[in-house]
Amino acid sequence: MKIDVAITPAALGSLALAGASALVIDVLRASTSIITALANGCAGVVPVAEPDEAIRRAAAQPGSLVAGERKGDPLKGFHLGNSPLEFTRERVGGRTVFLTTTNGTGALLAVRSAAAIGVAAFVNAGAAASWALAAGRGLVIACAGDAGRRSLEDEVCAGLIVEQVRAARPDAVLGPEAEEMAGQARPYAKDLGRLAQDSAWARKLGNQGRGADLAACLTLDAIGLVPIYRPNVDRIVAAPGL
Ligand code: MLT
Repeated sequence: MKIDVAITPAALGSLALAGASALVIDVLRASTSIITALANGCAGVVPVAEPDEAIRRAAAQPGSLVAGERKGDPLKGFHLGNSPLEFTRERVGGRTVFLTTTNGTGALLAVRSAAAIGVAAFVNAGAAASWALAAGRGLVIACAGDAGRRSLEDEVCAGLIVEQVRAARPDAVLGPEAEEMAGQARPYAKDLGRLAQDSAWARKLGNQGRGADLAACLTLDAIGLVPIYRPNVDRIVAAPGL
């Protein structure tokens, strides 16, 4: 089993997605929001590149919601922002959500050619590692990053997943970035809260008064579900049995 990590979406170009499983990580906050939404009974999340498209497509589907952010802030006229705390059962249960975010939804759209696509964050890291192991294919972990730059929290999450997969599959072959991420994750494994200070985007969210989001996103293994993105039906769903 080969494990590669794309530190930013641009790095996906040099990795083989066809035939591999992909895990997309945007810890702060798109992945965590998607996982929370599906855990709370959301019917499906549709990743969309631009706000206009989200509004147009939601208008064609009565009862659906539009959610997302730019620069961390909710978008005008949208039902929801990108805080995982907003994706409650009351708000999203039984509904489809069209979601557009700065980096996370773009990273999802960038891995559409993979054989299977899961969504990962700290809240479901253990479940995501188990999903990748059960699939048994090569694994490409795609970090959303931040506008083309590296994102510490995504890298630490990728590293924790790499370590868990390697613990179960000592024969796994790690690409150089996967090895680097595993090393980078070690100091954070028992203290994810440090990322609230060490991550540039976490500090920005904190300064925006979004400390409660940070607490929710920097929690390990609170959710045992891995949302699955199915490009053929253009939505992320909670796969039965996961
Ligand atoms: C993104 O997609 O860049 C993020 O999820 C931004 C955010 O924290 O809302």
